[in-house]
Amino acid sequence: MQALRIISEDHSNLWRLTTTIDHVAGEIEEGAPVDPRFFNSVFDYLEHFVDRAHHPKEDDFLFRIMRERSSRAAGILDPLQQDHRNGPDQLSTLRALMIEASLHADRRAEFLKNLRLFTTRQKSHISAEERYAMPLAREILRESDWAEIDAAFLDREDPLFGDTARAEFAELFHRIASLAPESVGLGARTAGALAATGQAAQAAQAEPLLRVRNLESWYGRIQALKGIDIEVRRGETVALVGANGAGKTTFMRTLSGVQPMRAGSIEFDGIDISKLRSDMRMRRGICQSPEGRQVFGPLSIEDNLRLGAYTQPREQVEGDMEKIFTMFPILKEKRRLPAGTLSGGQQQMLAIGRALMGRPKLLLLDEPSMGLAPLLVQEVFNVVRSLKAQGMTILLVEQNAMAALAIADRGYVLETGSVTLTGTGQELINNEQVRAAYLGM
Ligand SMILES: Nc1ncnc2c1ncn2[C@@H]1O[C@H](COP(=O)(O)OP(=O)(O)OP(=O)(O)O)[C@@H](O)[C@H]1O
Ligand SMILES: [Mg+2]
Repeated sequence: MQALRIISEDHSNLWRLTTTIDHVAGEIEEGAPVDPRFFNSVFDYLEHFVDRAHHPKEDDFLFRIMRERSSRAAGILDPLQQDHRNGPDQLSTLRALMIEASLHADRRAEFLKNLRLFTTRQKSHISAEERYAMPLAREILRESDWAEIDAAFLDREDPLFGDTARAEFAELFHRIASLAPESVGLGARTAGALAATGQAAQAAQAEPLLRVRNLESWYGRIQALKGIDIEVRRGETVALVGANGAGKTTFMRTLSGVQPMRAGSIEFDGIDISKLRSDMRMRRGICQSPEGRQVFGPLSIEDNLRLGAYTQPREQVEGDMEKIFTMFPILKEKRRLPAGTLSGGQQQMLAIGRALMGRPKLLLLDEPSMGLAPLLVQEVFNVVRSLKAQGMTILLVEQNAMAALAIADRGYVLETGSVTLTGTGQELINNEQVRAAYLGM
């Protein structure tokens, strides 16, 4: 099932790119110019990578064989493959609208509308593949099918998908990163190593719930986490701040067990969980609200919440859901509607609610304020504050460093895969280097 791993990795890159496009669209709405170089590099990437490599590989191997194996495949794959066929036309429309928008301010709204539509479709396409197509593939495909599919996905000589093509995609991606506005920069910005203070971190009162030692994680030959030490005590809210690409998401995903670790140890609630599968970690109480929310658009709000409780005894689910509804009344009102109909802020509430349905001992929140309007950002932080007041232990990842450190008992600054500074939230807010590097002061 190597193919599924490759597809999922592609998806997470695409999700990142889509989120970046949304950020840039937001900036254009606020008056920033339309930069044709940036958008052309994005569209080139999507054309070369998604339309000419990622989709054909799925169509020609995975989806074809799934259709041969089960009549249930058609219902799931028909709309996905229709999306694949529509991709090139949508891109050329976007290219044309983008050029017009870069030349005439009064054409911007039309471009932005289509761009938003595109990113929304892209995200629901990715979600549908992850949630419907992949589980079905796991269920119906035989060992010999996987051998054939994996061979196709792992063929390093393949002109469209092999090493040469991948190097070209990486090149294109770097180009996007270099052209993206500073505010959303996909690349890692380093502010130099900060001198570690660490006194506050040593002022241990409560017993640690989570103790991470020397954690390393790699993407192929790239080391994303370079030996991280972090502790979270019971009842604490700990913020992890750092620039784009610092490794915050990788750290969260390594904790929840969906990203492999290469070295180090993770001790949670008194036991070493380093070797536990992600669902077993969830059962033990590590529940994550992921970056980009990743609610499942076509499913109802209720069903999204139920997904969060799949490790829990059935009899507690309805009661827990009512608690979530008390916290987020808007979700109750819309409980039977598809989650895709919710606004960004409401989807964030749903993502947090879904994590809470797993009855976390440690709640992981990855960029809950990402992409939200300022008022909604405030609302999300209010939710975090009230969870904290109820005694929840929280690990909060944020680019919105000021707001996160203001709530947090303690914080860690992460830079290109290493912890460079730690202290109480207030100490970090007052630290000159942190202010200069992360708080824009
Ligand atoms: N799927 C992937 N394949 C290869 N490299 C990756 C992948 N995901 C992340 N990386 C790299 O790992 C490093 C850490 O990325 P990560 O997403 O963890 O950072 P982050 O701090 O969460 O950034 P952001 O603020 O943009 O969410 C970056 O250099 C990134 O380019
Ligand atoms: Mg991240």
